[in-house]
Amino acid sequence: MSVENPHKIDVSKLDEIIASYGAKKSNLIAILQKVQEVYRYLPEDAMIYIGTKIEGLSPATVFGVATFYAQFSLEPKGKYEIKVCDGTACHVRGSMPVLNAIRAKLNVPEGQLTSDNGLFSLETVSCLGACGLAPVVVINDKVYPQMTSDAITIVLDTLMKEEA
Ligand code: FES
Repeated sequence: MSVENPHKIDVSKLDEIIASYGAKKSNLIAILQKVQEVYRYLPEDAMIYIGTKIEGLSPATVFGVATFYAQFSLEPKGKYEIKVCDGTACHVRGSMPVLNAIRAKLNVPEGQLTSDNGLFSLETVSCLGACGLAPVVVINDKVYPQMTSDAITIVLDTLMKEEA
């Protein structure tokens, strides 16, 4: 199953979000966080719209803010956001074979963020603060400790079956 067209912008939904926080410059970060929660990234059209709707802002300013903060993604993310820790402890205990197993399973080559069906996005992150559980993979908010290539393949198989 693929996700719905991730590029489709619902202007009334954006209006609703802006109204819920208040159309003020000082609320921009909160508004962008909410938009990202809804779309799983910040679509360009949404940033342009917000930049024209809030007094004192421009689309360029919104874009500048969005690119400044690492929490914001300007590319579509999958329904399942996979983070593979590649901090020192995880790296030493084998995070790279786990990452490679994920890439092979999802057919996501290096340099590509999201699987072709739009379901999975994959990134490496630095220490997640759970080094005792290394190597660690996080899928959405769920932590998978002491991962191996085989274990992560089984986890992904299960998720793929749920989506089939
Ligand atoms: S290095 Fe991976 S959790 Fe610390």
